Amino acid sequence: MNTVARNRVEVLHGVNLDMLGKRDPEHYGTLTLIELEVRIRHWARQLGLEVSFFQTNFEGEYVERLHQSPQLADALVLNPGAWTHYSYAIRDALEIADRVAVEVHLSDVETREEWRRRSVIAELVMGRIAGKGTDGYREALDLIAAELGVTPPAAA
Ligand code: DQA
Repeated sequence: MNTVARNRVEVLHGVNLDMLGKRDPEHYGTLTLIELEVRIRHWARQLGLEVSFFQTNFEGEYVERLHQSPQLADALVLNPGAWTHYSYAIRDALEIADRVAVEVHLSDVETREEWRRRSVIAELVMGRIAGKGTDGYREALDLIAAELGVTPPAAA
């Protein structure tokens, strides 16, 4: 039987996430984006997932990456940053992408300013994780591995 592996995950970092390490450490911790990605890659490997990353500060580029995502990934981890709260363009692009998706926020958006409580992508994702810092990404990968039916590689 010819089975196609479904284990590709793209992590889509949105606006201002490239500034991690320079943002308020109380909300966002002290890791840079590259350091965060090293961790995510390590976790993904442990779970048997193949991970790729994308970051942009341009909404249209984020939308276009979502358009390409059916060719690039089986599942998505999204932290669109502030776009989460108001970008219907990203919401619509995510709907078109039709991927398994999990929304992650480093900070606890529910207990910060009122405007951060709203997520325009919430209804399109299978999980939402906020306020757990970098560990939120690990949780997102766990959810995705379970949903895609990916089993961890045998320990060497
Ligand atoms: C964020 C929360 C957003 O409200 C904020 O605009 C960000 C980052 C988070 O990861 O906690 O840029 O998505």
